[in-house]
Amino acid sequence: MKIGIIGTGSMSQSLGGAWTRAGHDVRIGGRRDGTLRAAAAHGELVLLAVPAPAAPLVAADLAGTLAGRIVLDCTNPIEPGPEGPMLTGSVPARIAEAAPEAAVVKAFNVCHASIWTLDPPVFEGTPLTVPYCAATRPAGERVAALIASMGCTAADCGGLDRAPYLEATAALAIGVWFAGGPVRAIFPEPAQC
Ligand SMILES: NC(=O)c1ccc[n+]([C@@H]2O[C@H](COP(=O)([O-])OP(=O)(O)OC[C@H]3O[C@@H](n4cnc5c(N)ncnc54)[C@H](OP(=O)(O)O)[C@@H]3O)[C@@H](O)[C@H]2O)c1
Repeated sequence: MKIGIIGTGSMSQSLGGAWTRAGHDVRIGGRRDGTLRAAAAHGELVLLAVPAPAAPLVAADLAGTLAGRIVLDCTNPIEPGPEGPMLTGSVPARIAEAAPEAAVVKAFNVCHASIWTLDPPVFEGTPLTVPYCAATRPAGERVAALIASMGCTAADCGGLDRAPYLEATAALAIGVWFAGGPVRAIFPEPAQC
């Protein structure tokens, strides 16, 4: 799969590395050397690995190039609050408005960037699961194939109208994690009766 990555920071490096290990053709673009558009043009799938407030602005700038492509949104729109991270407004609908001919998929926002350096991507004996919410079924299926190619399990969490739940899940988990709480123990499967 040809993948473009917008941004050169932590998520760009860790997910770019995971996708390269999985055999994908990855091109990273940064604003400092003016390579954003070339990266977007490279990918059938384009990851916006930039701060949440910047994502819709970048999408608007690149809207023509993003037309017909899948735009992956991994952003977490949060800012510090007195009791932990607070949501500042959901991002994927704003990306979709800015680049209306792209198919937006929210994914990869729940785990810390360092998790994508795990090789293989297995946690306590279980492949990592990546939840995603997709604007269209074909776009969701492509992203599910990408997730599977990494050795992870894809979890279809519905359409883009459900993406705010992924953002809220991350905000809650990050708050617990920063407070030193046992994030992993929050989501155990039901006990067998
Ligand atoms: N880090 C994590 O563990 C993690 C986990 C899940 C989700 N996320 C989300 O992933 C996104 C990226 O996080 P990160 O940790 O990779 O951030 P980061 O390391 O700070 O990198 C951000 C990148 O975005 C670029 N950028 C900033 N504003 C831009 C603009 N207006 N136009 C173009 N490029 C711009 C920066 O370019 P410059 O270098 O030129 O400033 C940099 O390359 C964020 O939305 C974050 O919420 C992060």
